[in-house]
Amino acid sequence: MQDENFSLVITDLKMPGMSGMEVLKAIKVLQPEVPVIIITGFSTVDTAVEAMKNGAFDYIAKPFTPEQIVEKVRKALAQRAVLLENIFLKKELGEHHGFDLFVGESKEMQKVYRRIIQVAPTDSTVLITGESGTGKELVARAIHNNSHRRDNPFVAVDCTSLAETLLESELFGHIKGSFTRAIQTKTGLFKVADGGTLFLDEISNISLTTQAKLLRVLQEREITPIGGTQPVPIDIRLVAATNKNLRTLVSQGSFREDLFFRLNIIPIDLPPLRERKGDLPQLIGHFLTTFSEEMGKEIRGLAPDALALLEEYNFPGNVRELENIIERAVVLAEGDLIQKEDLELRVAGNETGGGLGGYVPQNVDELKETKRQIRERAVEPIEKAFVLQALKRNNWNITRAAEETGMLRPNFQALLKKLRISARNQMGN
Ligand SMILES: Nc1ncnc2c1ncn2[C@@H]1O[C@H](COP(=O)(O)OP(=O)(O)OP(=O)(O)O)[C@@H](O)[C@H]1O
Ligand SMILES: [Mg+2]
Repeated sequence: MQDENFSLVITDLKMPGMSGMEVLKAIKVLQPEVPVIIITGFSTVDTAVEAMKNGAFDYIAKPFTPEQIVEKVRKALAQRAVLLENIFLKKELGEHHGFDLFVGESKEMQKVYRRIIQVAPTDSTVLITGESGTGKELVARAIHNNSHRRDNPFVAVDCTSLAETLLESELFGHIKGSFTRAIQTKTGLFKVADGGTLFLDEISNISLTTQAKLLRVLQEREITPIGGTQPVPIDIRLVAATNKNLRTLVSQGSFREDLFFRLNIIPIDLPPLRERKGDLPQLIGHFLTTFSEEMGKEIRGLAPDALALLEEYNFPGNVRELENIIERAVVLAEGDLIQKEDLELRVAGNETGGGLGGYVPQNVDELKETKRQIRERAVEPIEKAFVLQALKRNNWNITRAAEETGMLRPNFQALLKKLRISARNQMGN
């Protein structure tokens, strides 16, 4: 299944070498859209039911008639057709409008895709809710990229990162001299996003005063820069996101109810990953491919017990956490399979992490450093040989060497610099 595509798999449960359950799990990573029918004997009916939970299409108990199996195959292929259509819908969303592809075909995510397609063409305000790492920003961009505003700017503002006054001057702009640090007139992001989409991320973090101002902007569809007197009309589509429950904040008095209603015209709620585990295999497959390619490693997949570990995990950090776990695992993996030990999950009671014989990066910086070292060790010698040969063939003439390798001269020079090759030194040698 790594090399070829199949429409359907029929597998027995008890087999030498690899059980039908393991086959099923591997298939769900490699070609998740392929329906799997499990053949089971009387003694393994429980396992077959378990297999259904793991994404098998159906099971058939021995002994069965040809008619029975033909019927099941027919059904499975019909379902596959529907699924492929949905994948097509999703690709449509992605490829035509150039945003990072969504991965996952679960019912929950299909609802999200359908919503995006429905609301994108309108100018209605959208409120995206969901736990951290569930893909809120991805949705915001998808809405923009599928709207008639797609050729105008998509401006994202993280409302947490700025203090109140700064946020206001960022959003609405200010006139030169309107306050001490206003040395120059500044165009507000509302104006920068004119004709496009303004994405207010973590909207729950704005103060009550800024909330009042935002509400007025949404009602009047015009902004007055700080220190200014003339309101300027704006033409933006507002998309907001939050990982907090705004209703609760409203009842606690820290979020204005009228603003909440203005924002919540079209709600899109992103389900946490633990509630759509059916998407796991595909997401894992997606991130495995991405990171293996990025790091130039050939990773075939996950060892069965590693996969099982991920399936039990509840992902408090959702897709972003899964992404990080796989990235780290690809860095750490020594063979062509990710082992249980390469996954460092934050679960109490799980004895991963401690049992790692080698060095385990603890944070992003260390992870980057590890990646850099791996790159240095694996890729750089190859690059170096490649560059040196090109230079030698061209008598150390950088322009000609760059031309011969098909690289632009500045890129070629950047590569020389990175590899610490200096043409003059080499000539001297
Ligand atoms: N369905 C998905 N398919 C593929 N990648 C996804 C999906 N959902 C999220 N991601 C990836 O997970 C990461 C987190 O997504 P995103 O930044 O959109 O989440 P978020 O909800 O805005 O998180 P936060 O609340 O932490 O800001 C990104 O790298 C994104 O590309
Ligand atoms: Mg976000």
